[in-house]
Amino acid sequence: MSDEFQTVAKADDLAPGEMMQVRVGRQRIGLYNVDGEFFATDDTCSHEEASLTEGFLFDDIVECPLHGAAFCVRTGEVEAFPATVDIDTYAVRVVDGEVQVNPTPK
Ligand code: FES
Repeated sequence: MSDEFQTVAKADDLAPGEMMQVRVGRQRIGLYNVDGEFFATDDTCSHEEASLTEGFLFDDIVECPLHGAAFCVRTGEVEAFPATVDIDTYAVRVVDGEVQVNPTPK
């Protein structure tokens, strides 16, 4: 696959336990720092229209602020209802202190 990684943030912008929405083109991607390791998923919940990064991050589980569905940010798998559809995940790398995301789903 071609090198599609795009810089979305500085690694220092996101402390462990924090998350933020970033944009790559028109895509809204949730970026998470789990104990110093970065992960990226769709930011939009698969249940309805809500931004997961406005919810809560517990270790590697993000909880939707609207109805409380939860997803693993490592795999995108549903961890709690009412969502039943997994979300996409994206490859992340850190280069020279910059966080880069490949916007093609894994
Ligand atoms: S919109 Fe996320 S749980 Fe309903």
